[in-house]
Amino acid sequence: MSCFAVTGGKKLSGEVTIQGAKNSVLPILAATLLSRGQCVLENCPRLRDVMASIQILQSLGCRTWWQGNALSVDTTYISGAVIPDTLMREMRSSAIFLGAMLARCGEAELSYPGGCELGPRPIDLHLGGLRQLGADIEEEGGRLRCKSAKLRGCDIALSLPSVGATENLMLAACGAEGTTRILHAAREPEIVELQAFLRLCGAEVSGAGSDCVVIRGGKPLHGCSHRVRADRIVTATYLCGAAAAGGEVFLRQARADDLTAVVTVLREAGCEIRKDAAGIFCGRKGKLRAVSTVRTAPYPGFPTDAQSVLMAALLCGEGTTVFEENIFENRYRHVSELCRMGGDIRVLGRVAVVNGVRHLHGAAVESTDLRGGAALCVAGLSAEGRTQVGGIHHIQRGYADLPGDLRALGADVVQEDE
Ligand code: UD1
Repeated sequence: MSCFAVTGGKKLSGEVTIQGAKNSVLPILAATLLSRGQCVLENCPRLRDVMASIQILQSLGCRTWWQGNALSVDTTYISGAVIPDTLMREMRSSAIFLGAMLARCGEAELSYPGGCELGPRPIDLHLGGLRQLGADIEEEGGRLRCKSAKLRGCDIALSLPSVGATENLMLAACGAEGTTRILHAAREPEIVELQAFLRLCGAEVSGAGSDCVVIRGGKPLHGCSHRVRADRIVTATYLCGAAAAGGEVFLRQARADDLTAVVTVLREAGCEIRKDAAGIFCGRKGKLRAVSTVRTAPYPGFPTDAQSVLMAALLCGEGTTVFEENIFENRYRHVSELCRMGGDIRVLGRVAVVNGVRHLHGAAVESTDLRGGAALCVAGLSAEGRTQVGGIHHIQRGYADLPGDLRALGADVVQEDE
């Protein structure tokens, strides 16, 4: 089995360009279905989830091709509205195709995405909103069959600000007649980027970044060219890497304005962080310190996706840090693996208490999910000796080249294939 081998204990020094954002590009790939034409996505990361989305688009009859890091998608012709089971299983966020397919074809059939490593992953808010827009949805034997003779705009109040539901409903609403208002919408930067993409295609969308997104639907959309912005969670991972190992790094293209909550915590922990137009500089010379309670929350709160990498960085921080995970039920699966490396962490329900230790030691550990796997690599940077991180297919869902990026930052990380 392949693994990432991290030889720790070296201070970081170097710079790397941050890849395009996975969570931006996935809904945008679904959104390409709305335009009858060619869309070009520059700075598109080559990730397993992106490749799975490309396969879904191809299975629907779209043409796709790469030129360097630019992905072109031609959605002029579509031959079907059914996503095969095997492709749905490849990528859990594929439910995002529902809204776009309904808007474009008036029907969609796919299997229910079900649970994932983070616990149950319901899509009731997606389905409830689509029904309000006029979709007729049948759930049978794990398949969803959706039809809509005509989607009509309306007010949809989400009971919680789900990122995926907000995106799905924005896409469906582009194909609905009249005005849709999504209330209590998610405010993540990826929603703002989806709005920017839709506007480039000719859609009338406003309000993204606030808790009310307004879509005036029914306009014919056309292709466009869009540059995918830098991935804020990959940025957070490398910031935490520098916090864990010490040294100085520069993250080119990184955007600090997307990461205020993470930057605030890392400064409290003793890191020096400066931003300029080209990216973010992060350095740590003194000791790393524990921080006040870290509570994950919807944007602009502390991102759940950065909880594990921050925890990995703080394992050797002086003092005790309390984490409270408020978004997903099962998001501490990296904890037992971090403890195998010498971490002192106790979990009680949604709370994890991290007592800083003097040293971590290398060990053979296993990734159980994407960000948990990245956290094991971050911990490996500050551990004495060699850490072998298995289950790298999880990490590759979200990081185009984690070992290469960390090497550019001066770390000793290689992929070993057996
Ligand atoms: C997106 C991100 C993921 C991130 C998460 C929270 C993508 C591809 N993934 O996931 O990396 O961790 O936002 O920032 O962008 N919920 C329901 N019913 C629903 C939908 C969600 O109960 O219909 C619950 C979920 O179980 C979860 C919470 O709402 O507890 C937040 O989920 P949501 O914001 O929808 O996350 P995703 O869009 O799945």
